[in-house]
Amino acid sequence: MTQDEMKKAVAKAAIEYVVDDAVIGVGTGSTANQFIDCLAEIKTRIRGAVASSEETRRRLVAKGVPVFDLNEGHDIPVYIDGADEFDRNLCLVKGGGGAMTREKIIAAVAKKFVCIADASKKVAVLGQFPLPIEVIPMARSYVAREMVKLGGDPVYREGFVTDNGNIILDIHNLEIAEPVKLENIINNIVGVVTVGLFAKRGADIVLMGHQEGIEVIRP
Ligand code: 5RP
Repeated sequence: MTQDEMKKAVAKAAIEYVVDDAVIGVGTGSTANQFIDCLAEIKTRIRGAVASSEETRRRLVAKGVPVFDLNEGHDIPVYIDGADEFDRNLCLVKGGGGAMTREKIIAAVAKKFVCIADASKKVAVLGQFPLPIEVIPMARSYVAREMVKLGGDPVYREGFVTDNGNIILDIHNLEIAEPVKLENIINNIVGVVTVGLFAKRGADIVLMGHQEGIEVIRP
């Protein structure tokens, strides 16, 4: 299977985790987009979805899937989304698409987080993919300096503004040996909105696509 075929395969497999008559959480990115295509085919089985980004909201609406506001208070039995990296404990790095703040909010609300990813996303230690951090614009330089103190090399994502009106710093060269600890430390830096480290609330299941098929990975 090519990487694209793996993404399609895991997106299709995730349909098994969709709960009938429910509002489900839908992530952002190319793998999540494949999932939206599959979801559209069974849209009459669900009440609708909450979207983790404006891009996802538009795609869902275009496919005729009703989109709800999270503040309407629906139970979200399952959230389905991709990742940039995952480790054996199903801690994740997310935010390659810059949507991690809304993704983290939905993941926090959802009962189950099903991550869909191709095999290239599996790593022994998180941090090979630059860790995205959403930052309030006026705190950009301060947060960057704090990240240098933590051993990272911050790079400003030029020309990118998040759905929440903030900027992204991508932190290169971090070896994330203790994901929960680092998530807590970064969360405590003033000006940080969200770090794309999903360790305290990682995935419950990863559906990983590889050459021979799909592996279901639990922590
Ligand atoms: C967006 C994300 C995505 O889940 C992550 O970037 C993976 O994307 P893709 O499925 O395109 O590889 O976190 O903010």
